[in-house]
Amino acid sequence: MTNRIDFNEENSNTSDNPSFDSVLQARLSRRTVLRGSVGTMGTVAFGGLGSLGATACGGGDALLGFDAVAKSLADAVSVPAGYTATVLYALGDPLSATTSAYKNDGTDTDFENRAGDHHDGMEWFGLGAHGKPSADATARGLIAMNHEATTDEKLSSFFLHANGGTSTLPRPAVEVDKETAIHGVSVVEVKARHGKWSTVPDSAFNFRLTALSENILINGPARGNALLKTKYSPDGTKTRGTLNNCGTGKTPWGTFLTGEENWAGYFTRSATDDAARGDKSVAALRRYGRNQGAASRHGWESAGSDDKYARWNNSKLGTSVDGSDDYRNEMNSMGYIVELDAYDKNKVARKRSALGRFAHESAAFGTPVAGQPLAVYMGDDSRGEYIYKFVSAANWAVADAHPVDRITTGDKYLDSGKLYVAKFNSDGKGAWVELSIGNSAIAGYAGYTFADQADVLVNARLAADAVGATKMDRPEWCSTNIANGEVYFTLTNNSNRRVEPSSSSQTAPDSANPRVYTDLKGTTEQKGNPNGHILRLKEDSVGNAASSFTWDVYVFGAESSAAPGTVNLSSLTDEQDFSSPDGLVFSPSTGIMWIQTDDGAYTDVTNCMMLAALPGQVGDGTKKTLNYTKADGSALNVDTYVGKAPGADKLKRFLVGPKASEITGLCETPDGKAVFINIQHPGETTAMADIADPTKYSSQWPGNAGYGAGKRPRSATIVITKDDGGRIGT
Ligand code: FEO
Ligand code: CA
Ligand code: CA
Repeated sequence: MTNRIDFNEENSNTSDNPSFDSVLQARLSRRTVLRGSVGTMGTVAFGGLGSLGATACGGGDALLGFDAVAKSLADAVSVPAGYTATVLYALGDPLSATTSAYKNDGTDTDFENRAGDHHDGMEWFGLGAHGKPSADATARGLIAMNHEATTDEKLSSFFLHANGGTSTLPRPAVEVDKETAIHGVSVVEVKARHGKWSTVPDSAFNFRLTALSENILINGPARGNALLKTKYSPDGTKTRGTLNNCGTGKTPWGTFLTGEENWAGYFTRSATDDAARGDKSVAALRRYGRNQGAASRHGWESAGSDDKYARWNNSKLGTSVDGSDDYRNEMNSMGYIVELDAYDKNKVARKRSALGRFAHESAAFGTPVAGQPLAVYMGDDSRGEYIYKFVSAANWAVADAHPVDRITTGDKYLDSGKLYVAKFNSDGKGAWVELSIGNSAIAGYAGYTFADQADVLVNARLAADAVGATKMDRPEWCSTNIANGEVYFTLTNNSNRRVEPSSSSQTAPDSANPRVYTDLKGTTEQKGNPNGHILRLKEDSVGNAASSFTWDVYVFGAESSAAPGTVNLSSLTDEQDFSSPDGLVFSPSTGIMWIQTDDGAYTDVTNCMMLAALPGQVGDGTKKTLNYTKADGSALNVDTYVGKAPGADKLKRFLVGPKASEITGLCETPDGKAVFINIQHPGETTAMADIADPTKYSSQWPGNAGYGAGKRPRSATIVITKDDGGRIGT
């Protein structure tokens, strides 16, 4: 969301966490040594390696054999010669036989039965004979997809309403009802006939979750906790809806994971709520970005007295002691990794509180190893937030790859375990610090008094502050390299990185976030780390359950013309330079790492893009020292570890999107011959006042690509195929 309003631009991490806490580190190192002898991954093969070896070396379609796509400001999708990109599924497309075609003029209704807005992460679920789940179906499947947000200005989601909608309070209920319905998740059946892909609007598999879907379960340690009690759920076991669904994951047992990201901005609190509460909840609300008096993003709370509007007012209004007569605790019902069964709309979705509550992006599993715990890697996307890992209590049983009941298999692996936060050290090593109420640094934290382990998980940011986690440059997606099990994290950018921080929200550079520089966009100075980087880590010998790791930076985003010694540290060329990496997915079929951008820094030169990469491994590059000079003339020298420069044959721009869009989400058929990606928020820089004049829209895609009615821009899924029928990225 960097083009218009960046909802990650909170300044809620004002903790004074040092980059390196030597005392705690010494203790952790000792614990790591002690644990080092426990168990070993030995020579257990990584799941996909066998097939990857075969396909990656297959003759005739060498990986990254395409010609790089040039940077572009065109209002179109550009792909390499020999490839075709086709629009498949856009905002408003019907998901039931009785829903009318999308008119795209602001008069459409029935969004509970249409594609939502701002398509984001997605995953493929194959359908075989008789509509049964299939791991190798290539022409029929379900795509489960996040609908993160909507294009807005001054409260209203303006492309959704005929005249642009109402930009003052109170918001009309008829507008708010549309807007709540276009958030959430959709599951849509897709099929290919003679190589042409289409959705199946009347499929019985299709369904939606919205911001108001009933009876979504709170699972894990926070289930039934005092922090989850609301008027809707006096016993704290359920909530309505899922919100700001951003990155995704797919479990080894075949379910869909969706991460709730910028939900905090949808709630409001009265200007006197801090005093009304008078308890520790005020500190928690501030740490999650909701100061008293802050306006909500869309004013949904203003649309009427009905409970479905009242819930967005997070103020303490009732007289109960436990919050069961108001929505003072409602924000605690958002911010989770949510699991659902894409194959079965009747299975109730679960919010997995054991994985912590924050601004979730994707959830990437470490390579499953039989008899050992599973690991789930996650990022918290806001400036200066952290990287986390969940380790399951249950050990992986291979039979669970094909369970009778998928969602209860999720209960087994994702409802109990340990949550860790990452500390990156200047020697190229790092530690996973457990977030446990039993940790004296957490139990004795001066900033917040934790009641129990559920409190630690619901307020994971505060617990991570307490243990001195490393503040990162906005962790977005993560993904596991199928070839070697290393885990990659996009760190999209950070305008708060400074050599000499002058406020509590700014942070000095450290080894894992080493760059501070000024980039020019026209005449505008962009400071901090405007272009972002991609970090990767290799777990120590125990694998998924390791408490220490080695890391380096795979690549630094930069303009190819930027200074090579301080900014373009990965020697990017014109064919591969990029800014603000966000989506990151390793292809199961080819092993290609797809990098997608959500950029506002380089958009004077190019629209957002997708690149294909064949990365090496942690430690294949060199140590570099970045030398900064403070105002008083003293030096700040930061050691970092830069991966081997990718070179032209290992990193290539594959696609550039339409104007004012981000590229996000990726899934593919198991043969790698169809890749689905999302174009999110084309035209989002359009001014609401220009709603009546399509010539003033900053994008008219996908209408201008021949898809659907009207000129209002729409988020949409595209399918990429190769004209010779080959695998994508070859
Ligand atoms: Fe929804 Fe941080 O991207
Ligand atoms: Ca620039
Ligand atoms: Ca993202």
